[in-house]
Amino acid sequence: MKPLSLLLAVTLGERTPRLLAQEQGPQDVGGGGLAKRPAALLLRQGPEGPPPRPDLDPKLYLKVDDPTGTLQAAFRRYPRGVPAPHCEISRYIPLPASANWASGLSPERSCPRALDGDWLTVSMSSSVLSLSSLLRLQPEPQQEPVLITVATVVLTVLTHTPAPRIRLGQDAILDLSFAYMPPTLEATASLAPSPPPFGLEWRRQHLGKGHLLLAATPGLGGQMPAAREGAVAFAAWDDDDPWGPWTGNGTFWLPAVRPFQEGTYLATVHLPYLQGQVSLELTMHKPPKVSLSPAPLVWAAPGEAPPELLCLVSHFYPSEGLEVEWELRGGSESGSQKAEGQRWLSSLRHHSDGSVSLSGHLKLPPITAEQHGARYICRVHHSSLPASGRSAEVTVEVAGFSGPSLEDGVGLFLSAFLLLGLFKVLGWYCKKGKSKINLMLYLIKPKILLCRHKQYKKL
Ligand SMILES: *[C@@H]1O[C@H](CO)[C@@H](O)[C@H](O)[C@H]1NC(C)=O
Repeated sequence: MKPLSLLLAVTLGERTPRLLAQEQGPQDVGGGGLAKRPAALLLRQGPEGPPPRPDLDPKLYLKVDDPTGTLQAAFRRYPRGVPAPHCEISRYIPLPASANWASGLSPERSCPRALDGDWLTVSMSSSVLSLSSLLRLQPEPQQEPVLITVATVVLTVLTHTPAPRIRLGQDAILDLSFAYMPPTLEATASLAPSPPPFGLEWRRQHLGKGHLLLAATPGLGGQMPAAREGAVAFAAWDDDDPWGPWTGNGTFWLPAVRPFQEGTYLATVHLPYLQGQVSLELTMHKPPKVSLSPAPLVWAAPGEAPPELLCLVSHFYPSEGLEVEWELRGGSESGSQKAEGQRWLSSLRHHSDGSVSLSGHLKLPPITAEQHGARYICRVHHSSLPASGRSAEVTVEVAGFSGPSLEDGVGLFLSAFLLLGLFKVLGWYCKKGKSKINLMLYLIKPKILLCRHKQYKKL
């Protein structure tokens, strides 16, 4: 049979408890050149039965029977306001896993009869989930009362973190869960009453090539490829119900991530002759530290240019998309305005953790007396920061315009205190012989006058 690919978009029923996945634009030819045909998945139906869809081929109008409830649950927790997922259906043919390490999962030479029939694979992806389900179709559409084909979900693989964004150097946890209900009773009867063995595989795609990072077959022995990059997975069935349906956990853990680990991750769950796969996009970020020099004050005489301002933006990732803005606040104008002056950015400095640093420079024009107390702000915008960015500031001090500040007051008090002590010591020395005075004079030249003055007084 010709491979069939269908582009689907999900619309959520507003008032009726109904969830319908439907396609837009019949006979739409996609970029891959495959003919696309409209189809709809009815995930939940209202009391009045399936809505009529005369526009659809009844073989492509699918009433979803989901014994594990995973697909339904994923849409129940689908947040309002998030765009509907991109959705695709294609034909599926049960096949044994091709990897050697997974060969233990399908020891039979041919596909069991229990897996006979037509299969579809449904892939859905959006910003909040990425899932893939294997559906087994009933041979003929049913009249209920509109013609519709019942499709039973056998395997669903799902992640709620389709686009994890991890801070550089932290651990990445890529969520993965799956659920399985064998398609027929015969398929279960041949097995012992316990969850079946499964295979879990995590790969990273890089430049069109996949790198196997981790493979596991809990419940089966055999030679396994060693895990790479310190990766660990929680590969286990969660549910202990011996007769199924079963749910499992394949969450992947990658310690202390580095930039080279960014990319597309493919998680595959292998069951005998059946595979479900989802993809995740891992990106990294690190917000910059921002500091200004000189700080906290920059000083100049009226009509002179203050020293150049340097805004150090350090240890951020990714290196692209960083903006440094200079603002001026206070002074003669009210509010904030763009700072005048010549500005430029240094080249990037690279650090061993993959982050980078740079500095923004601002050469200020000569200042006026009105600018006393104005503040220069260096504001940095980057994808790792909130929209307001991160900033550092410096206050302009114009010579001759500064009143005594609190620090100055404290300084004056301390100086007075020390001087008082000094007078006492000096007085004591001055009373004694000249040799000692000379020694003192030698040690603290600026105080010479002080001692002499006292001596003259005595004379
Ligand atoms: C899977 O296992 C991890 C680690 O034990 C846990 O944090 C996570 O919540 C589990 N996921 C599910 C869906 O139970």
